Amino acid sequence: MKIPFSPPYIDQDILDEVMDALKSGWITTGPKTKQFERDIAEYCGVPKVLCVNSATAGLELMLRWYGVKEGDEVIVPAYTYSATANVVLHCGATPVMVDIQDNFLIDLEKIEAAITPKTKVIIPVDIFGYPCDFDKLMALVQRADIKAKFHPNTEEQKTLGRIMILDDAAHSVGAAYKGKKVGSQADAVVFSFHAVKNLTTAEGGAICLAFDQYFDVENVYRQLNIKSLHGQTKDAMSKTQTGAWRYDIVEAGYKFNMPDVLAAIGLATMKKYESYILPRRKEIFERYTAGFSKYEWAQLPEYYNADKVSCYHVFPLRIKNITEAERDALIDKMAAAEVSVNVHFQPLPLLTLYKNLGYKMSDYPNSWDHYSREISLPVYPNLTEEQVDFVIHTMVNAVESILAAKSV
Ligand SMILES: Cc1ncc(COP(=O)(O)O)c(C=O)c1O
Repeated sequence: MKIPFSPPYIDQDILDEVMDALKSGWITTGPKTKQFERDIAEYCGVPKVLCVNSATAGLELMLRWYGVKEGDEVIVPAYTYSATANVVLHCGATPVMVDIQDNFLIDLEKIEAAITPKTKVIIPVDIFGYPCDFDKLMALVQRADIKAKFHPNTEEQKTLGRIMILDDAAHSVGAAYKGKKVGSQADAVVFSFHAVKNLTTAEGGAICLAFDQYFDVENVYRQLNIKSLHGQTKDAMSKTQTGAWRYDIVEAGYKFNMPDVLAAIGLATMKKYESYILPRRKEIFERYTAGFSKYEWAQLPEYYNADKVSCYHVFPLRIKNITEAERDALIDKMAAAEVSVNVHFQPLPLLTLYKNLGYKMSDYPNSWDHYSREISLPVYPNLTEEQVDFVIHTMVNAVESILAAKSV
């Protein structure tokens, strides 16, 4: 039984919406993108949302807007995808990596120890769709002694008066924290709609502007719009209105806008996200959990507690007491049975770029431990119960043969 890892969810409604964009005469940023922004804002309960062409672009845009630059530090988890740290490097600043807890989320106590007078932003990651401990993070940056360490360099930094929490919510559209959808709990929250995400636009992202207590978010939205399109004072649609050709360029901005033809995929998917896609992903998580819970060797992921619930993006199974090489051998056995699995993620200090910058894997023992024993299992709406059972059965056989070989 051939089982892919994470094919995109595409149905007739999505095809129809994309076709509508294609036939409309307007395919780049326009009415569908703006509608998608309003839909996300309503779904997440945030005052303003800007769509961009990736989460990477969204994170970088927010760092640039906040004035992060050379000499500044930004705290990130050591266990994440490289985008979280690369955007910091793009700005010339230093990513300060912090180890994770057993639930894969950044370790709050270690964050506190990593804060210095150079810290401008913390980028926690809602890894695998499981939200971070937002209240604790926000309380930490609002504490008087932590605020006293903060040295603002820009008007935005002076206005906020503290470290900004920029949530990397690439995985967590639809997850909930204390009864509310992720989006409003940090200063700004950035989603990804990349092809493998729960809610995709092929490539895309969105920035939720939640810091309306501090900033006029309509004004920040305007500033970010300009920054995301070459510093141009008019967006593409208004510039092409009859006679409205003249524009100005006020800064060397970026090219981060989301086109309508992609927003159309997101618009149509959004309509069934809560009613079909999330419940179906939840069922798969529950079936894996029930299937593996009888095996002593299986370490199951935490995906809800009293405060929060995941959006079931990645199911990270860990096998107790195996080595990295044994984990890799398990993946080979799954591949031989035509089941595609994955590893999320190689901790950043394992990768050449960060190694060359001086980060050492031995400084992040928990990241190493969880990575070395982790296998991500397929989760997507079209995965049938029969296929889920086949994944479980194949994995059980593979693990038991590895464990048997170990005990000989
Ligand atoms: C944790 C995390 N952050 C950021 C990103 C970047 O998302 P995008 O591909 O939309 O730029 C990803 C992508 O997979 C990710 O996994």
